[in-house]
Amino acid sequence: MKADIGVYGLSVMGGNLARNIAGHGFQTAVYTRSAERLRMFSEAYAGKSSNLIPCSDPAKFCKALAVPRKILIMVKAGEAVDTVIGNLLPHLSRGDILIDGGNSLYTDTARRADELENAGIHFVGMGVSGGEEGALNGPSLMPGASPEVWKQIKNILQAISAKAPDGTPCCKPLGSPAAGHFVKMVHNGIEYADMQLISEAWMILKHIPGINDISSVFRKWNSGLLESYLIEITARILEKKDPETGRPLVDLILDKAGQKGTGLWTSFAALELGVPATGITESVFARMLSGLKEQRLRGTEIFRAGELGTLSGITIDDVEKALYASKICAYSQGFNMFSAANEQFEWELDSAEIASLWRGGCIIRAVFLNEIMDSFTQNPKEENLIFQSVFAGKLRDCISSWRNVVCAAVRAGLPIPAFSSLLSYYDSMRTAVLPANLIQAQRDCFGAHTYERIDKPGESFHTDWLD
Ligand code: 6PG
Repeated sequence: MKADIGVYGLSVMGGNLARNIAGHGFQTAVYTRSAERLRMFSEAYAGKSSNLIPCSDPAKFCKALAVPRKILIMVKAGEAVDTVIGNLLPHLSRGDILIDGGNSLYTDTARRADELENAGIHFVGMGVSGGEEGALNGPSLMPGASPEVWKQIKNILQAISAKAPDGTPCCKPLGSPAAGHFVKMVHNGIEYADMQLISEAWMILKHIPGINDISSVFRKWNSGLLESYLIEITARILEKKDPETGRPLVDLILDKAGQKGTGLWTSFAALELGVPATGITESVFARMLSGLKEQRLRGTEIFRAGELGTLSGITIDDVEKALYASKICAYSQGFNMFSAANEQFEWELDSAEIASLWRGGCIIRAVFLNEIMDSFTQNPKEENLIFQSVFAGKLRDCISSWRNVVCAAVRAGLPIPAFSSLLSYYDSMRTAVLPANLIQAQRDCFGAHTYERIDKPGESFHTDWLD
């Protein structure tokens, strides 16, 4: 009997996805370049009736698959994906489907799809979110598949994906091959903003006098407006003690945040598409700032006269509201990238569908994605999530707390790049006249770049400003 699907690459994500697929009753051929890893994986999981079929080389792997072949590639993003495609190509036939489940850059995916189209091979860029646990028990899947390809992979992908609380599979086809990786990239950009905001909220809470157990604050938040995976794990992380010293483990971790690049790509894409994704980009910069540990230590000596001030006049509820409002704006910026991409690439990304498939399995899953989904379903043409009436109302409710928290933190000298830049985004979006008219005048003054007058729209003017 031929296998229903093959998984190429047995790192933690690939291995767990293979086990997830096989566990759902699909015959799953598996291959990985390292013979040792293949042996270990086979010994651990590929016993009788496991539905896993280990294969020792790409030729045997492809031969083991029912035609048209469906192959999920789970290797490191970048050159390795091209190498794997090169290894597989001689053993494939027209109509076969290759699915790249790594965090590939969407422009690479577009290129690979074009190249493979000439050989009659379908290529799907698929975002996979949920980490190793999600891969095993139900990830959120974002496949860039056309309707024709979707028909052939739907059964397997929807079976293994997470299910939203209403039972809907967190896996929907996104049309063009590159769209899957684009959506995953934006997911990660939002993830960066979410994580930065949570860490800023944690720092703020640490400076409010009298709060002894911040973990329980997050636990409480997780049963309210902010209910989400990231808030839940934050509560758990904060209560973890270091067995050696008995101190909170988080306090023993060096404060330099790593990054693999997807936040950076989201920022590049936002800049290229002309979307002010300020909170996302600020969060990428914040990770870079965290990396300047040595300079920051010097700065402490040079600029810090005494300790940071404590935060007075704000409550835990204010911080919760500030976090919630900031989060609404950060998600809005991410969703704005979809409309811009639709225009630029002639895609048909549907914000309600994307909110739906992020409701389960993925790292940014959050209860408020239900409301995002509902608002875009009712009002699909609304250009910015913050204008959807439900979110506009919530922002109005949170604004005075948000301002108080930002002002108090700034006064005390706490760095809160994401909280404050998102507040400025919100304020920009509610300001009819920005000072950009002065910028236009300056540009015209030094470079004759011309400007438009409000009383004569559509015409260009130039003035000799310094005569
Ligand atoms: C997910 C995560 C996943 C991974 C990121 C972390 O959705 O499952 O986003 O893709 O954890 O690669 O990225 P950084 O290393 O850049 O923080």
